[in-house]
Amino acid sequence: MQPIHTSIEIGLPAPIRVLHASDTHLTHADARDGQRKVDLAASRLRGFPDADARLAELGRLSHQLGLPIMHTGDLIDFVSLANLEAAKAFADSHDIFMATGNHEFSLYVGEAWEDADYRNQSLAAVQACYKNDIRMSSRIIKNGDAAVNFVALDNGYYYFEPRQLAFLKEQVALGLPVVLMIHTPLYERKLYDDARARSGSCAYLAGVPDELIADYDPYRYRQQKTDATTAEFLEYVAGEPAIKCILAGHLHVDYDSTFAGRPQLISGGSVARVVEFC
Ligand SMILES: [Fe+2]
Repeated sequence: MQPIHTSIEIGLPAPIRVLHASDTHLTHADARDGQRKVDLAASRLRGFPDADARLAELGRLSHQLGLPIMHTGDLIDFVSLANLEAAKAFADSHDIFMATGNHEFSLYVGEAWEDADYRNQSLAAVQACYKNDIRMSSRIIKNGDAAVNFVALDNGYYYFEPRQLAFLKEQVALGLPVVLMIHTPLYERKLYDDARARSGSCAYLAGVPDELIADYDPYRYRQQKTDATTAEFLEYVAGEPAIKCILAGHLHVDYDSTFAGRPQLISGGSVARVVEFC
């Protein structure tokens, strides 16, 4: 399994390389979580039969290439003791910087409306697997005189929070080029058209204009409607030249999109993408 390679020119004096991965979707469960979870695991495994092999290969590539893993979420498909143990074992033995997706907090996939209260039922247990704040954190990676600030924000539920926008502004103020890491890609018209053509029902993007979601079914409309803070977030990102690139996932494809004139790289169709910022 070979990674794909993408080079992004942002004017650095020396290259900085990372391994971008997304949407691994581990589906482990055992009797400790009860039969309902074991049945869920068996069902979900059919959709992600290669998840363990993909994670192992991702780890092998990270060690072989000496590159940190920048993961944009859905490393696990649902919360279970076995999935959390597997995630923690991976994070303890690899250099991984994590931005969570919607599935990180799924207790049973699709069983309930997913919002902050739902997420908080499992947030502490999921957070305990990882070394960075999985909902909002930054990591500066250097190579000689070059430095890039990777800012990871959880937008797995299609919206951003005021504190996340404030945090992003604080990070931009540090003066380094910023790469934004999010699970759900940001709306761009061609991406919307292509994503909608693939799914047939909705585009699964954040920040889609209201007129383009008007024919979503009521559940998806409520889920993906752009709130005021999210609209403000997109406007800020679009107008902030320090934000050089967006890394995202969620769509389970490798797709080179854009957002407001900068690259928006969506990964998750292959094991990993080597991204070189230069
Ligand atoms: Fe996913």
